[in-house]
Amino acid sequence: MSEDNQKNCRGNSPGEPTATRSSAPMWIIVATLALLFLGGVYFDHNSGWFNPRVYAPYHSVDQLEAYQPKSGAAAALAKGKGIYENVCGICHGADGMGKPGVAPPLAGSEWVMAKGYNRLAHIPLEGVNGAISVEGKDWTMAMAAMGAALPDDDLAAVLTYIRGSWGNKAGEVTGDEIKKLRADMGKNPAPATGDQLKAMPE
Ligand code: HEC
Repeated sequence: MSEDNQKNCRGNSPGEPTATRSSAPMWIIVATLALLFLGGVYFDHNSGWFNPRVYAPYHSVDQLEAYQPKSGAAAALAKGKGIYENVCGICHGADGMGKPGVAPPLAGSEWVMAKGYNRLAHIPLEGVNGAISVEGKDWTMAMAAMGAALPDDDLAAVLTYIRGSWGNKAGEVTGDEIKKLRADMGKNPAPATGDQLKAMPE
C-alpha cells in the first residue's frame, strides 16, 4: 500500500472538506454575548424575577407595592393627609404652620398633641369661639365645626394625621372613638371657648 492510499483511508485527502477550529466569526460571538447581556438587563428590569404576583404592565414587586392600597396606620395617614389638605389646610396650611390672621398652627400645638383625643376632637366637631391660646400665643377668632360633616373614620384619619405630622408625636385616633364622642355630645353642640375646652378631660 502506498503512502497516498494510507492518507485516504484516514480521510485526510486534500480534496475533502475539513473542520477548522475558528469556524464561528468573531462578530457572531460578540453579538451573542451582547444579546445575552441585554437579555439579562431586560429580564432584571421587567421580569419581577418570576414572582407570580408580578405581571405586565408591572415590572417589580416594589412597583406593585407602591400601587397597593395601604393598610393600618399608613393607610390612615395617607387618607388623613388628603382630607386634611382639602378641609383644614386652607386655613391651617398644608405644612400645619397656620397663617397669621387666618388660623393658629397645628404643628407643635398643645391642643393637637394632647394626651387623649377628647379635647382635640371637640374642636372640629363643635367649633371654637373666641379666645384660645396656642403655644403661648392668644388667638381670638372663631372656627366653625369644620369636621362635623366628616364621617367618623375620616375625621379620625385627619386627627391621626395632624397628631403624627410636622414633628408632632401623639397617638392615633380611631373611628370608634369619634363615634362614641359624637354620641356623647348629642346633636348641634355649641362651639366651645378655649377655657371650656381646657375644662374637658384631655
Ligand atoms: C376657615 C378656616 C379654618 C378651617 C378650614 C379649619 N380651621 Fe381650625 N382653627 C381656625 C381658627 C381661626 C382657629 C382659632 C379659633 C379661635 O381663635 O377661637 C382654629 C383652631 C383650631 C385648633 C385649636 C388651636 C390649634 O391651633 O391647635 C385645632 C386643633 C384646629 N383648629 C383643627 C382644625 C381641623 C382638624 C380642621 C379640619 C377638619 C380645621 N381646624 C379647619 C380656622 C380654621
